[in-house]
Amino acid sequence: MDRIVILDAGGQYTHLIARNVRELGVYSEIVEFAAAGERSKGAKGIIISGGPRSVLEADSPRLDRSFFEKLRWPALGICYGHQLLAYALGGEIKPGLIREYGHAALNIRKPGSLLRGLGRREPVWVSHGDTVVRPPEGFQILASTADCEIAAMGDPHRKFYGVQFHPEVIHTPRGKQVLRNFVRHVCGCQPTWSAKRQVGKFVREIREKAKGRPVLFLVSGGVDSTVAFVLCVKALGRKRVQGIYVDTGLMRKDETNLFKDRMARLGYDNIDVLDRSDSFLGPLRHVSEPERKRKIIGEAFVAVYHELFKSWSGKGDSWMLGQGTIYPDTIESGGTAHAALIKTHHNRVPEIQELQKQDRLIEPIHQLYKDEVRQLGRRLGLPKTILGRLPFPGPGLAIRCLATSKDQAVSALTLPKEIRGQLGVSAYRLPVRSVGVQGDSRTYAHTAVLTGRLSFAQLGELSSAITNKIREINRVAWLVASRPDADVLQARIVRSELTHARLDLLREADATVNEAIENLIARCEIWQCPVVLLPLRWREGETVVIRPVSSRDGMTANFSHLPSAPLRRLARRLLNIRGIDAVLYDVTNKPPGTIEWE
Ligand code: XMP
Repeated sequence: MDRIVILDAGGQYTHLIARNVRELGVYSEIVEFAAAGERSKGAKGIIISGGPRSVLEADSPRLDRSFFEKLRWPALGICYGHQLLAYALGGEIKPGLIREYGHAALNIRKPGSLLRGLGRREPVWVSHGDTVVRPPEGFQILASTADCEIAAMGDPHRKFYGVQFHPEVIHTPRGKQVLRNFVRHVCGCQPTWSAKRQVGKFVREIREKAKGRPVLFLVSGGVDSTVAFVLCVKALGRKRVQGIYVDTGLMRKDETNLFKDRMARLGYDNIDVLDRSDSFLGPLRHVSEPERKRKIIGEAFVAVYHELFKSWSGKGDSWMLGQGTIYPDTIESGGTAHAALIKTHHNRVPEIQELQKQDRLIEPIHQLYKDEVRQLGRRLGLPKTILGRLPFPGPGLAIRCLATSKDQAVSALTLPKEIRGQLGVSAYRLPVRSVGVQGDSRTYAHTAVLTGRLSFAQLGELSSAITNKIREINRVAWLVASRPDADVLQARIVRSELTHARLDLLREADATVNEAIENLIARCEIWQCPVVLLPLRWREGETVVIRPVSSRDGMTANFSHLPSAPLRRLARRLLNIRGIDAVLYDVTNKPPGTIEWE
């Protein structure tokens, strides 16, 4: 069987490369740099991923000239990999001249083997600071963007190629063609690999891992943990898997009852509900820093595990803990050797890592992406009411309910003239910060608020330009509606906590938004729609942010464009809720924003 090796420089999209290659019918595996020489033996080609480091840093992941000189098969470098290829073979790299994030237009100069089948100008997705300014000897420039002369290069003789853009993400529409060209035509791989028998493979793996031990499985009501749980039950039988649903007090409206009823109807009555909302909400109340929140939630979950283990201790300590962790959860926590920390997921706290070391952790779907989990769920016969739910993060509403310890004023934001253009747009800077991701690294920066009559196309352009050019801004939101006579400059970020009342307000707003967009999900390709409560006070109430995004798996995302009439109706309904003064619409893609605000 033909095999492609993907060398992981710690990029967030490394597994997307692997999956794209598998979807082309070619087996692929991800390998650490340290094992590159050994594990790439017998491969048909290698792909070097993107990563958060700069090749100019002494301790960044490296491959030297001799590695490439000895290589007998083709190589493709992507983003960091492209720069590494150029650097190792004697090209020149310039650090951070221009920060290029988001969409760019690729102008193709040589539509040869790597870029064959593409138009002369193709939209691509980029996220980088360093730039290749001179290719190594023997390489030709294949394509450029406005900000990056060497956006693709190749040495057809040695079959080495590099692309600065990311062909593996969905926002590079013809990216798959580039990967197909490399894998099928440059490397000559045959499409013989198929994942059809995945259910059988997962079941075997679970049995091998469990070695007869029973499993305490944490279910959250979401798609991932439900599919993983059902898979575990299929592998080990109902008697050996005990589902535990922890009510953290951070769930959506009516979540607990709905989930329990749905599962019971499917015959899964082996799920206990534990109400531990006090132990989550108590310690979270005064906390606003995102990583602290996640730690507290992780610890509260661990306290529940300890409690559970204790109550099962009569059965010995050979219990395993089951979780529905999926791949993005591990990579964004710095789960691979070179990945930068974006945010900590509660299913990767030290106590869980300890269980992992003791071989007491079972995560049946930890290498899958959300859409693959759904496919698997369909094969397992789960209904649309479960599989069609919009993704909801483990830490729940805690990361969508923002709090802050002091009052702060909103200030006017001066946009550079080239950004403002002819549009009658006013911009403001919110003092509160949210999490973002740029160039594979985490940011924690401010949000710009735009007001004025703007189309989504204009908002998209403004949003990219602002986050590219103004370093302190990683997110842009548009003011859809506010109470009459409410003025942005008089609105204030107010001292606030994570209280029951604020969570109830957010739950109400979230339920209102979800109901209103139900019919728009397919039409607007909405993959997820977080609703955020922001302590931005205009008169008596706060601000709700709606964040509909389209995505394939949450790794990258585009903000969705809701049609104006339903959006206006939704804003009116939200303003009818007592305690809500204004509605903002997040118009940031990922990168540079993340999907959640935190
Ligand atoms: P971000 O905000 O990083 O989110 O762009 C990407 C996707 O991951 C979800 N998410 C989580 N899911 N536990 C989860 O199960 C978590 O701690 C967590 N944090 C983020 C998020 O909702 C989005 O779908």
